[in-house]
Amino acid sequence: MQKIALVTGGNRGIGFETCRQLGHKGFSVILTSRDKALGEEAAAELAQAGLEVAYHLLDVTNRDQVSRISTFVEKEYGRLDVLVNNAGVSLDGDKGVFEVEQMVFEETFDVNLYGVLRVARAFIPLMIKNNYGRVVNVSSSAGSLKAMGTAAGAWPAYRTSKAALNALTRVMASKVKEHNIKINAVAPGWVRTRMGGPSAPRDVAKGAETILWLATLPASGPTGGFFKDRKRHPW
Ligand SMILES: NC(=O)c1ccc[n+]([C@@H]2O[C@H](COP(=O)([O-])OP(=O)(O)OC[C@H]3O[C@@H](n4cnc5c(N)ncnc54)[C@H](OP(=O)(O)O)[C@@H]3O)[C@@H](O)[C@H]2O)c1
Repeated sequence: MQKIALVTGGNRGIGFETCRQLGHKGFSVILTSRDKALGEEAAAELAQAGLEVAYHLLDVTNRDQVSRISTFVEKEYGRLDVLVNNAGVSLDGDKGVFEVEQMVFEETFDVNLYGVLRVARAFIPLMIKNNYGRVVNVSSSAGSLKAMGTAAGAWPAYRTSKAALNALTRVMASKVKEHNIKINAVAPGWVRTRMGGPSAPRDVAKGAETILWLATLPASGPTGGFFKDRKRHPW
């Protein structure tokens, strides 16, 4: 049976590349984005290349859209095998923790943490029903607690949101491990995208590599982990 995968923030960057690689692996991909025109254009580009890609609107901060897409997926496909929570924002630049506006913290957490929670809550029941699921939360090395005491003060909202996402990953994974659902976090490395900027050493293909690995884990694979380049990354 053809597997169904959904990617958030699929219109560009690592999300778009993840859709492309999943398509090449034979998945039926639901590319989602918060901007309809950009998402449709991205999905059309992949469909033109012969991949099975459908488009659906999804702003992960919008409860109604989350509810609508989970209803759509259940009706249309009856299953969701892979969920890649890729959508993310980095809004605080190099301001320190006491300089970044409270609102910036809240907006960052609304996408990077609560967005993942909203979307996961909407789809986990369907995964439990089918006794199968692979959820990949796109985190960051910047969210590693190990690095936090030593790194300079930049991106406090971004870094704490990804640390919280790592914690959420562990908590969610332990809850569903009896249902053949694996939930892992991934650090893609520093990747050349709009967020990563032009000086980043990695291309999107490398950035998406471990996401694909986690999205296609066998039943014996790990859950509740944090990975970079297919190896465990320090929390
Ligand atoms: N690039 C790096 O070096 C790097 C390193 C570590 C981790 N990451 C993580 O990798 C993921 C992808 O980042 P990227 O580098 O590909 O960045 P990017 O090019 O800036 O792409 C971010 C994507 O997230 C989407 N997005 C933002 N807010 C959203 C929302 N509320 N609902 C739905 N989609 C939303 C964006 O949509 P719009 O086009 O509408 O803005 C865009 O599609 C992020 O979670 C990021 O934190 C990246």
